[in-house]
Amino acid sequence: MNLTRRPRRLRRTESIRALVRETKLSPDDFVYPLFVCEGQGIRREISSMPGVFNLSIDELVRETEAARRDGIRSVILFGVPDEKDAEGSKAYAEDGITQQAIRAVKREVKDVLVIADNCLCEYTDHGHCGVIENGEVLNDPSVDLLARTAVSQAEAGADIIAPSNMMDGFVQAIRAALDASGFEQIPIMSYAVKYASGFYGPFREAAQSAPQFGDRRGYQMDPANAREALREAALDVEQGADMLMVKPALPYLDVIRAVRERFDLPVSAYQVSGEYAMIKAAGRLGWIDEERVALESLISIKRAGADIILTYFARELARKLW
Ligand code: PBG
Repeated sequence: MNLTRRPRRLRRTESIRALVRETKLSPDDFVYPLFVCEGQGIRREISSMPGVFNLSIDELVRETEAARRDGIRSVILFGVPDEKDAEGSKAYAEDGITQQAIRAVKREVKDVLVIADNCLCEYTDHGHCGVIENGEVLNDPSVDLLARTAVSQAEAGADIIAPSNMMDGFVQAIRAALDASGFEQIPIMSYAVKYASGFYGPFREAAQSAPQFGDRRGYQMDPANAREALREAALDVEQGADMLMVKPALPYLDVIRAVRERFDLPVSAYQVSGEYAMIKAAGRLGWIDEERVALESLISIKRAGADIILTYFARELARKLW
């Protein structure tokens, strides 16, 4: 054989592989999702998400400090309130669990970026992401409540607002409300492209937010659609989104790539609860090498075009990156 092109030359040792590696992960890329519940001294593991907990505020502060020490700079907070009602009023209460949590983390932990997930489903007794009338999730009244929620989160000290309920016009309304309250410096990370996904199953256990009737297909996107993702993202860009998100991540790498190519805003991708649970479960059974598969998933998400990755693996893998 007389080959002149031998790609294996660049794969022979780890040093040379590191030299020619095209994509790298850094803890700076990660956002660590955390679930905060009421009470004290609570660290309750989610059965379908080993290593992920419902944390009371004191434990949340400890977990955030530990993550910070491991190199993670950003967290996204989800509130799990004891009391829920039809309008999700604890989502926008000044003393709501998320507002208290944001205040505590910003007060106690140095140099941490706090992103507030902005939705109603964890706070409504019916589990939908908006207000219901005759079995329908109403758009505009739900958006008004999201805007109120955003202002209360910013008042509590949130650094970024991340609206996730997929109502039409939420970015515009939240931008206007934030600006009117003097928060024109607070960016919006929009869950612009969020699919109605079976991969959210374990999250609904963690946040106790499963819909009590019907499903979310009337507002979240159809998994079959990619062009529609670009229309959704374009609307959010027009309305003033500062960052875009695609969610879930691994089953939608093509969508991440398409959004990356079309828009020049930072793109984030959410490796959701079901993606995490599958890797953990197969790892526990000894069917896959959990750490290796987790890293491979994360690198694919980045290679597809995501700048930022929301992942439950953030803290665990922060010190083990390629
Ligand atoms: C809605 C929200 C959901 C997730 C993040 N924000 C769930 C849903 O739409 O049911 C899912 C995250 C995950 O599965 O890890 N507030």
